[in-house]
Amino acid sequence: MKADTKAIHSGFKFDSATNSTAVPIYQTAAYTYPTAKELADIFGCRSGGYIYSRIANPTNYALERRIADLEGGVGCVATSSGMGAICAVAMGLLRSGDEIVSAAGIFGGTVSLFTRTLSRFGVETRLVDAAETGQFKDAVSDKTRLIFVETIGNPGMDVPDIPAISKIAKDANIPLVVDNTVTTPALIQPKEFGADIVVHSTTKYINGHGTAIGGAIVDCGTYKWSEGVFDDIKKLADRAGPFAFLGYLLSVVYRDIGVCAAPMNSFLMLQGLETLSVRMDKHCSNAAKLARLLSGDKRVGWVNYPGLKDSEFCDRAGELFGGRGGGLLTFGLGDKGRAFKFIDSLKLAKNAANLGDAKTLVIHPASTIFHEFSGDEQAKMGVGEDMVRVSVGIEDFDDIRDDFEQAIEKAFQE
Ligand SMILES: Cc1ncc(COP(=O)(O)O)c(C=O)c1O
Repeated sequence: MKADTKAIHSGFKFDSATNSTAVPIYQTAAYTYPTAKELADIFGCRSGGYIYSRIANPTNYALERRIADLEGGVGCVATSSGMGAICAVAMGLLRSGDEIVSAAGIFGGTVSLFTRTLSRFGVETRLVDAAETGQFKDAVSDKTRLIFVETIGNPGMDVPDIPAISKIAKDANIPLVVDNTVTTPALIQPKEFGADIVVHSTTKYINGHGTAIGGAIVDCGTYKWSEGVFDDIKKLADRAGPFAFLGYLLSVVYRDIGVCAAPMNSFLMLQGLETLSVRMDKHCSNAAKLARLLSGDKRVGWVNYPGLKDSEFCDRAGELFGGRGGGLLTFGLGDKGRAFKFIDSLKLAKNAANLGDAKTLVIHPASTIFHEFSGDEQAKMGVGEDMVRVSVGIEDFDDIRDDFEQAIEKAFQE
């Protein structure tokens, strides 16, 4: 099947119990079996079957299979949130004394997990400039256990050279973890460019309507767990082969930290996936039009959008994302006061801490998502006081344009 067909059909044909064409919401915690032996056999892996929805659930499974197929991975596990996905990867791969090398200009929650929470457990993170591939190489040591990048840094907006960074990871025999939230499989399959593990906040474009929180972890099947540097997963590789990491996640990490997806949320993510590529086309074309409009306005200090011709990342975005620049952009109006005035003056776009919604959303990152970081830390992550982030929705572009023009006008009135 081609990608658009997979987005609608992968992972589910029809419900064998009822012939339902929609994926049923299996709103159950546990699964009953007539005999003690049957349940014991499933626990002992002597036969297959669902046990408990913290570990596996049929609605979640349909979503997992669909995302795995869209990403070209061997398998996927759905999580309670995007942060849950990143945290579970860290819990699965790292131990005290290990190091992470990560792009700096990425989601504030991920930077906080890496530099603040994981550091309490003895894991150190080296943040590097995603645009400077050499910095990744220099930062990798014999203690590094994973390299982490976002396809387009949110909100740094830099596009890392994924193939070159993948080579650095391969040379060090460690996995490259790519957060594909902002671009989704509609724009890029990171596996094709050398990713080993792909993570998602499905809350964003995959859901597409701002109605549920969720995440996903895809194993691309490219990292050889049997020859890797992770002893516990290596032990599983004899039995589980390419599924060793996913097996370890479910049998250990999910069991111990319970980062499972809710079936109702997986149903909403499946609904969103069916229209993902149609929506992404409109997100991208609206964002490209808005980026051009803003960069042509003399009152706007700067615009960061990888699809703009004068962006340093335009060529790379062209290669990685099939010529599209995504639905997210940032721009500056000179100072925080104007940024606030602009946001307060918007009538259509909403001021909200989310992205990837059908609705256009804006936020002032420095005083919200990044408010706990110092000015210096924010600067390293590509966040400035004058920055406004826009998640461009799929409304009629004329209405977005009118709203932005009137709000910019007001931001410059005394
Ligand atoms: C790129 C990226 N990754 C991960 C996350 C975390 O996802 P969630 O909010 O679903 O936990 C976000 C949230 O904004 C994000 O933008």
